[in-house]
Amino acid sequence: MKAIVYNGPRDVSVKDVPDAKIVKPTDAIVRVTSTNICGSDLHMYEGRTTFETGRVFGHENLGEVVEVGAGVDRVKVGDMVCLPFNIGCGFCENCEKGLTGYCLTANPGSAGAAYGFAEMGTYDGGQAELLRVPFADFNCLVLPEDAKEREDDYVMLSDIFPTGWHATRLAGLQPGESIAIYGAGPVGLMAAHSALIQGASQVFVIDDQPDRLQLAAKMGAIPINSVEQKAVDEILNYTDGKGTDRGCECVGYQCCDKHGHEVNHLTMNNLVASTKATGGIGVVGLFVPQDPGAKNELAKEGKMAFDFGAFWFKGQHIRTGQANVKAYNRQLAALIHHDRAKPSQIISHRLKLEDGPSAYKHFDARDKGWTKVVMKPAA
Ligand SMILES: NC(=O)c1ccc[n+]([C@@H]2O[C@H](COP(=O)([O-])OP(=O)(O)OC[C@H]3O[C@@H](n4cnc5c(N)ncnc54)[C@H](O)[C@@H]3O)[C@@H](O)[C@H]2O)c1
Ligand SMILES: [Zn+2]
Ligand SMILES: [Zn+2]
Repeated sequence: MKAIVYNGPRDVSVKDVPDAKIVKPTDAIVRVTSTNICGSDLHMYEGRTTFETGRVFGHENLGEVVEVGAGVDRVKVGDMVCLPFNIGCGFCENCEKGLTGYCLTANPGSAGAAYGFAEMGTYDGGQAELLRVPFADFNCLVLPEDAKEREDDYVMLSDIFPTGWHATRLAGLQPGESIAIYGAGPVGLMAAHSALIQGASQVFVIDDQPDRLQLAAKMGAIPINSVEQKAVDEILNYTDGKGTDRGCECVGYQCCDKHGHEVNHLTMNNLVASTKATGGIGVVGLFVPQDPGAKNELAKEGKMAFDFGAFWFKGQHIRTGQANVKAYNRQLAALIHHDRAKPSQIISHRLKLEDGPSAYKHFDARDKGWTKVVMKPAA
């Protein structure tokens, strides 16, 4: 089968690799019909993680079940399914609590497994023609009869829509509250969409990419074009000097200043400054325990110059982590099915797998208009 293989920093290619096959009786094989490139892929693509060369990328996958193992009961050949990027077993202590982003058995010795992801097990990704889905009965979200018609919406249930939603839940958003979202990438835009659906009164989206901010404005958010102190000042102005009730980090450890230089504490300190006293902050942007590729000594060790004093003094709280996709995807699918949510509105490119290498280059460069890429391996 064809798949997008990582060759080294900023180098991927479409290669022939062995077909995905059933390894355990609880596996299913899915013929991938939609698979996205994610901001998380970019950290790996840039060589800023331990992702091994020769592995296949792709954790945002949707497709048709073409084979099931002898131990699969519920999922049937022919089902259209969307796969959460986290692989859960369904029976460990964390999976039982709905914390499937931190499954204790799918990646032994660690908490959390995913397809085509650094430090999340050896599972291959779905930027390929076929994908092996472990614990298929637990992980497959079987889609309704409009699966094909709304495929570009449903594929966002694999990651960014639940992740954006998760950011607002970690922050503790309540109807009528205000929220500031740092980052207008796909995740930040989905956090804005989620906040608006949940009845936020004011939704600010901060970035310096005009095309992405335009999408945020189209959704009904207030765009703020700055990644520095000026963003904080604008938010304070809009909120009578108090700051927003809630804030979300949707950028991650490679966040930049206005010159494009990485300053890993920038978004976190801006959040502390632009969130009201006692407000809540949700962090879904990725931060890592080690970042040898960083320029700054603290960042190399996964540390940052965080304004802890200001944070403590304001009595704020922070919650962090991978989205537990399965905690949300069924309900968010219903919002899509009944026309209450349209995550596909951020898609800029629908491409073939063969176009993947050039799509990675454009998306990584944040080239104008490259907001979200969906590849169609079966096309
Ligand atoms: N927690 C999870 O489960 C989860 C899931 C998916 C993605 N992620 C992470 O979320 C992050 C965002 O993903 P994405 O796909 O939207 O990525 P992206 O890289 O496309 O978007 C990031 C955006 O942040 C902007 N940005 C950079 N510095 C900034 C700053 N100082 N202030 C405000 N904006 C700034 C960039 O211009 C860009 O538009 C990544 O770190 C990704 O790994 C986490
Ligand atoms: Zn993703
Ligand atoms: Zn588990």
